[in-house]
Amino acid sequence: MKAKGEMKILVLSSVLIAISLRIFYNYLISVPERPNIDLQRWWGSGPKAAKEDESIRPFKIDFNDTMIQDLKKRLINRRRFTKPLEGIQSEYGMNTDYLEKVLKYWVEKYDFKKRAELLNKFPHYKTRIQGLDLHYIRVTPKVDKNIKVLPLLMLHGWPSSSKEFVKVIPTLTTPQDGYDFVFEVIAADLPGYGFSEGTNKPGLNPVHIGVMMRNLMLRLGFKQFYVQAGDWGSQCATLLVTLFPENVLGYHSNMPVSLRRISTVKMFVGSLFPTWIDADHPERLYPLTKHFTYVFRESGYFHLQFTKPDTIGAALTDTPVGLAAYLMEKIAIVSNRDQLDTPHGGLESLDLDDVLDTVTIMWTNECFVTATRLYSEGFRWPEDIALQDTPTEVPTAALKFLHEVAYQPDWMLRDKFVNLVRSTSFDFGGHFAALHNPKEFAEDVFASGAEFLKFHSQKK
Ligand SMILES: *[C@@H]1O[C@H](CO)[C@@H](O)[C@H](O)[C@H]1NC(C)=O
Repeated sequence: MKAKGEMKILVLSSVLIAISLRIFYNYLISVPERPNIDLQRWWGSGPKAAKEDESIRPFKIDFNDTMIQDLKKRLINRRRFTKPLEGIQSEYGMNTDYLEKVLKYWVEKYDFKKRAELLNKFPHYKTRIQGLDLHYIRVTPKVDKNIKVLPLLMLHGWPSSSKEFVKVIPTLTTPQDGYDFVFEVIAADLPGYGFSEGTNKPGLNPVHIGVMMRNLMLRLGFKQFYVQAGDWGSQCATLLVTLFPENVLGYHSNMPVSLRRISTVKMFVGSLFPTWIDADHPERLYPLTKHFTYVFRESGYFHLQFTKPDTIGAALTDTPVGLAAYLMEKIAIVSNRDQLDTPHGGLESLDLDDVLDTVTIMWTNECFVTATRLYSEGFRWPEDIALQDTPTEVPTAALKFLHEVAYQPDWMLRDKFVNLVRSTSFDFGGHFAALHNPKEFAEDVFASGAEFLKFHSQKK
């Protein structure tokens, strides 16, 4: 009798657990209601203009003499640095002995005019979208009629700009063996970054930047296009492809992330059997203690910028030395996270001129604050949260370099990107992929383009 009673309780509780798990799972995968988004929301100063200037204006990058002289004066008239602690390289932050060498190079060797000239080899433009002047590079390939031209919007992140793509644009816009298509590249500066104007209104989060970027592509005459993005650009792009699947034919990301609730739970569940959910690279996310140790060690800047961007912004807008130290420490760690025991901390996996281009562009445009405020706007507005949790059917390709800040196995990525048509991992490379490894990067974009075309031809 007793055994029978126990049996009943066991069966009953198993059923209850199964039902609860099912309800929890249903909650995790439920898709939020699509938020209402004003697709012409005004981000310019003051009230919305009755009629927007829709002209497209050619633009040239100019590092002028007044700016250069003022910058050099500030770099030379700086106060003395505190020496690194004995036996310490980059473990406490930017190594000031190393910083001193970089600043000397910036003053004496970095060729401002030549660097601007290199950027100006590409055609630059500005146009006004929803009240803000947006800057972009547009390279249209000259090819035979039998070669298809795929429009490709490219989006960078923090603390970067469209400059990040200049090493891959020539390859992407030139026909490659084995492919019957080529890309027309539109590499845009996010609002508040590079040479694009920033807003003075709160709320310009990745959703609305995605909307602006779609409006930019529509302005240029592209109703359907492809997107390539990393870092914050990939946040904007992810929400763009979620909102407008009808406009995007394929999405390639070198920092693909699913922020769906189910993916977060999977991250923890996956720690029980890492090799089962990610046979190739379980060590990139697991053990979670290792992952969170890294995140905790390196994400202080994120919390600062998420909560108080204007304070650090006031300081760094006023000093190129401070700006360089702060940006280069971040650029170094995401380039190679295992080199804190060197004076450069990882920075030397990039060309110093490329690094200084980024610092110079931010200094010249005084845009640290407008760029950095994106950390405050991301992840907290309801429309952002709802769209993060909404899957998208736009075919997507993931490219994963070794030192990328965020890593997720495909098992998690598929929660968000239902049609993950390609996934590539490399045992090298960092966060600024198009600068670190332009060859592998461009090859992967081509291979992904072929997958996207195949996806659409099979659907027909
Ligand atoms: C030089 O560049 C700075 C920074 O972009 C700008 O504020 C300034 O107006 C420019 N000066 C001249 C004379 O063009």
